[in-house]
Amino acid sequence: MKKPSFEVLDFGVTKYGQKAKKFILRGKGGVIMEVSDYGGKIIKLFTPDKKGKLKDVVVGFDDPSGWDNGDPYWGCIIGRYGNRIAHGKFKIGSKTVRLPALNNAPGGIGCNLHGGSRGWDAYVWGAEPFIKGDDVGVVFTHVSEDGDEGFPGKVEVKVVYTLTAANVWRVDYEAVPDKTTPINMTQHVYFNFKGEAGGTIEDHELKIPAKSYLPTDAGQIPTGEMKSVAGTPFDFRRGMRIGEKINAPDRDLEIGKGYDHCWVLDKGEMASSRRPRGLITAAVLSCPLNGRSVEVATSEPCLQVYTANWASYDQTAKGGEHLSFRCGVALETQHAPDSPNRPEWPTVFVKAGEKYRSTTEFRFGTV
Ligand code: BGC
Repeated sequence: MKKPSFEVLDFGVTKYGQKAKKFILRGKGGVIMEVSDYGGKIIKLFTPDKKGKLKDVVVGFDDPSGWDNGDPYWGCIIGRYGNRIAHGKFKIGSKTVRLPALNNAPGGIGCNLHGGSRGWDAYVWGAEPFIKGDDVGVVFTHVSEDGDEGFPGKVEVKVVYTLTAANVWRVDYEAVPDKTTPINMTQHVYFNFKGEAGGTIEDHELKIPAKSYLPTDAGQIPTGEMKSVAGTPFDFRRGMRIGEKINAPDRDLEIGKGYDHCWVLDKGEMASSRRPRGLITAAVLSCPLNGRSVEVATSEPCLQVYTANWASYDQTAKGGEHLSFRCGVALETQHAPDSPNRPEWPTVFVKAGEKYRSTTEFRFGTV
């Protein structure tokens, strides 16, 4: 096994005029990751197949323009509020907070998505690479001002990416606001174990040990029902090819144009003994063609699975490779969409001076 190492290179200028850098992290276990301080975007991620052959398994671009001229969320850190808030509106005490509601699925009512028109993904963050024992990583920091995208309170944020000798990529989030505000962070990496230009991920196997999911209205806002997955195309408890039922006649799949839904994780189920205490397995994704796999474990209560269903995902990616419909799958650990308007669900409100914490691990291996 080699020693962990890192390299720092220029990554170009963002559309906001900020200079970005990229970090090449070489883990002791063999996984190599290229990440940018531009929203913590994962540019490349090489994982081994059964024969130890490395391949880049994420969707990304050669410079910031790929994100700036297309969907901005490929592989980035999402904040302050990942996912949707209906009408961009919620209450804190008796006060109504109004955010821009720019996202609108056909038939929807408008909502705030992923933090607004310039979410935390669209900033160059402070970034300090490190090597600590067998681990290599980057500490990212950002300050979101009071009123940023309409949200109340200044928030100091820290996200640490760590690549371990066991080929685990750990993401630790921390954020402290100075006023009560909703915080729901996630990582929006899209995997395709055949490579980003390898076509659809419908042939990947997915296992989600969750008994229920959240149906939505036409605007992709949860209706409030927690529906049992039993007998539906959302039952991945025993593992299923993503494409097996993705085109089945089902109202929820029609609204999402495929999977774009939130599963409610069952605390403790399928928890592996290799997990640090408190993390539960959210999903296992693998590719039968080459055996590459990832197991996602989290401290979060939910998992949004998104199979890149929107037609605008017709972009040119790294090295001129062409992306196609359903070219990647995002496994986004988080609290449920529209939680600020659902007091009966686990709260996303963080009070002044309190620390928001969240951890997700991506364990790369083979099956
Ligand atoms: C959402 C999708 C959205 C996508 C944008 C996902 O997290 O669930 O509805 O289109 O992000 O990249």
